[in-house]
Amino acid sequence: MTGYFYLLEYKVTLERLFSSTDLTMSSRLGLTFAIMLDIKKIRADFPILNRKVNGQPLIYFDNAATSQKPTQVIDKIVAYYTLYNANIHRGVHALSQEATDHFEGAREKVRAFFNIPLAKQVIFTSGNTHSINAVASGAHVFVKKEDEVIVSAVEHHSNIVPWQMLCERVGAVLKVIPVLDDGRLDMHAYHNLLNSKTAFVVVNHISNALGVTNPVKEIIDAAHQYDAMTLIDGAQSCGHMKLDMQALDADFYTMSGHKMCGPTGIGILYGKEEALNSLPPYQGGGEMIDQVSFEKTTYAGLPHKFEAGTPNIAGGIALGAAIDYLNEIGMENIAAYEHGLLVYGTAQIKNIPGAKIYGDVTDKAAVISFNVASLHPYDIGTIVDKLGVAVRTGHHCAQPVMERFKIPGTIRASFAFYNTKEEIDVMVQALQRAVTMLS
Ligand code: ALA
Repeated sequence: MTGYFYLLEYKVTLERLFSSTDLTMSSRLGLTFAIMLDIKKIRADFPILNRKVNGQPLIYFDNAATSQKPTQVIDKIVAYYTLYNANIHRGVHALSQEATDHFEGAREKVRAFFNIPLAKQVIFTSGNTHSINAVASGAHVFVKKEDEVIVSAVEHHSNIVPWQMLCERVGAVLKVIPVLDDGRLDMHAYHNLLNSKTAFVVVNHISNALGVTNPVKEIIDAAHQYDAMTLIDGAQSCGHMKLDMQALDADFYTMSGHKMCGPTGIGILYGKEEALNSLPPYQGGGEMIDQVSFEKTTYAGLPHKFEAGTPNIAGGIALGAAIDYLNEIGMENIAAYEHGLLVYGTAQIKNIPGAKIYGDVTDKAAVISFNVASLHPYDIGTIVDKLGVAVRTGHHCAQPVMERFKIPGTIRASFAFYNTKEEIDVMVQALQRAVTMLS
C-alpha cells in the first residue's frame, strides 16, 4: 500500500489499447501502465468486508458465485421500499409513476452500459438462468427437427440443460465444442462442427469453472456465416469487463445482476430487435399483453412481451445503482486491476507444492480453479473457511468440465476489484496450512 492508494503495475495488453498502426511504436516504447484504484475507499463501500467469519477477518474469494454489494446498492433497495414502493406501469398515482421512472431509468442505464441500441432490447428477468431459458423455451422458431444446436464443453449446467430440453422437444441434435487440455475451446473442431444444419450456437463468454475467456466474437461471426442464431452467456463477464453488444453482434446475450454488484433476483436478457420480435413469449400474464379475449390474445411490444407479472422492481432499480457504481470506477480499470490480482494469485498458487491450475492461460478472468495433489477440494475448502477464507469447491455446476479433466471438482478462488494482493497472501498461507493438515 502507498498511503491510501493501492498501486498495481500492469502491462496492459497492447492490442487492446492500440490500433495495429500504433502497436509497433507502443511495443518499442515498452509501455507500462499504472492502474490506481483507491482500494481503501472502495472497500469502505462494502460493509460485509468488515465482518469476521469464524473469528477471522473475512476474505471473500467467491465472486464468481456472487459479488458483494456496495452501500450505494443496498441503500437504493431501502429507499425504494421506504419512499416509493408501488407497482409500476399500472397506476396514475404519484408513487406508481415515481417507481416506474426509477425502474425505466435503470433500464436506460443498462442500455447505455452495454451499448445496446434501444432500451426496449433490455429485458429484465430474474437472473441469467431465466434469461437463457426465456430464449431456449421459444427457440423452436429458430431450431427445427434434425437441425443442430452447438454448445461448448465448458458450459454451466444452465447453458446446457435448456438446450437439451429444446433439442428433445423439436428433435434437433446437440453438438459439443471440445475443450483443449489448457482449458481453451478447440476452435478447429468448432469450425468443423458448423454446417448448413447448424441453427443455434450457445457458449459462455467466460467459463465459470475455469475462468477462461472464450473467443466469442470469432464464434459469433462464424455461426452467422451459416445463418445460425447465437446466444452468449455473460454471467461471468458482465461485472468484470467492458462489453459492447453492438460490436459483439450476438443475437442474444444474457447477464446476471448479482454478479455485477447488484441484488439477486434480477437479470438481463439482451437481444437484437428482430430476434426478440421473432421469439415467442416465455410466460403469459399481466403486462405482456396487448389485447386479451377468449378467442385470441395479442402480445405487447418489447420489452413488455417478456416481462409478465410484477417484476423485481427494487432489484431493477438497485441494478441501476450498481451500474452507476461500476461506471464511477470504470470497467477498464476494474478489468486491469483484477487481471493484476489474477497474475499475482496464479504465481502464488503455483508455489504451493502439488498445485495444479486448470485453465492456466493468459486470456482469462480473475478466476483460479485448482487442486493440490490428490487432496479433496472440499476438505481444503472447509479448512480455509475456518481461517476466514471463502472459496468455492466442487464441480461449480459444470460437471462435464470436471469429467473432461477427470477430477471430482476444484477449489475456485475468484477475485473482484475490492480484493487485494494481501488477501491473496492470507489465502495462500491458509491453503498451505490446510495442505499440511491433510497430508
Ligand atoms: N454460477 C455460479 C458459480 O459459478 C453460482 O459459482
